[in-house]
Amino acid sequence: MTTKHSTLHQQIRNLAKTKKAIILAHNYQPAQIQDVADLCGDSLEMSIKAAATDADIIVCCGVRFMAETAAILCPDKIVLMPNPAAGCPMAAMVTPEALLKRKGDLGGIPVITYVNSSAAVKAVSDICCTSANVIKVVNALKEDEVLMAPDRNLALYAAANTDKKVHLWEGYCPFHNDLSVEAVKASKSAHPQALFVAHPECRPEVLELADSIQSTSGMIQFAGESSADQFIIGTEIGLLHALSKAHPAKTFFPVSDQLICPDMKKTRLQDIWNCLKNMSGRVLVEEAVRIKAMDAVKKMINIK
Ligand code: 13P
Ligand code: SF4
Repeated sequence: MTTKHSTLHQQIRNLAKTKKAIILAHNYQPAQIQDVADLCGDSLEMSIKAAATDADIIVCCGVRFMAETAAILCPDKIVLMPNPAAGCPMAAMVTPEALLKRKGDLGGIPVITYVNSSAAVKAVSDICCTSANVIKVVNALKEDEVLMAPDRNLALYAAANTDKKVHLWEGYCPFHNDLSVEAVKASKSAHPQALFVAHPECRPEVLELADSIQSTSGMIQFAGESSADQFIIGTEIGLLHALSKAHPAKTFFPVSDQLICPDMKKTRLQDIWNCLKNMSGRVLVEEAVRIKAMDAVKKMINIK
């Protein structure tokens, strides 16, 4: 860490303490953001930790849907986004109007919405899911047919691992979806001892090559429990920092140096300082939308 970064890091920690703020960071955030956070996690853990905190302020370092989920679950807290411009392109691939129309066309079957979606889309969904709990959520519904949005790859993964008929929405993560079979095979040849771990946002033909399919925090846990000591990581490169911190004796290779989410890299230490100091970047969700969205998110969290 540079001197400038270490001073700012300490100033942020002090300010967070004075203001009774908790800093949450997603596992893809830049290393210095992960390091200054109170808690890092995948989307499910971020939701659970936001819901459980007794802090007055939640600083949510990630992309907008993550901060919105915190605001949905914590109406009595102030949720701040250090860089309000950080969005998720996949979340922009579905609107509430289009989702309701499709649900109607399919006879009103339940809609399972990936948390990578806007609050307005969550509000018209029956239940949410994350990459960590998608199979559990699909199995928890009594209906045999469901519509899943917006990630078609996650829906295909759910369909392959449950007995349900899962209708797809044609959305995708531009970065995970771009990972090719050729890139995975090249990485496997370069690191023949390593296990390949993939995120379910990757295409089915990529997932077929995986030794394990996991959410981002699932990958950290899998690497700890596995007897292997080398892993090819099939997700955004920010996770490499979290993996190396959790398991310093193990070696992690990015599957591709192209798997970078630019929006996840938009948060800087200075943004955290500014938002806490000025109470800027507040994320608010309209109350009527929030109540409906909270129902879908809480139904997911309550599935054991
Ligand atoms: P996780 O919930 O597995 O951390 O994934 C979030 C995400 O945006 C993946 O691209
Ligand atoms: Fe969205 Fe993909 Fe970035 Fe995850 S990695 S936040 S799905 S664009």
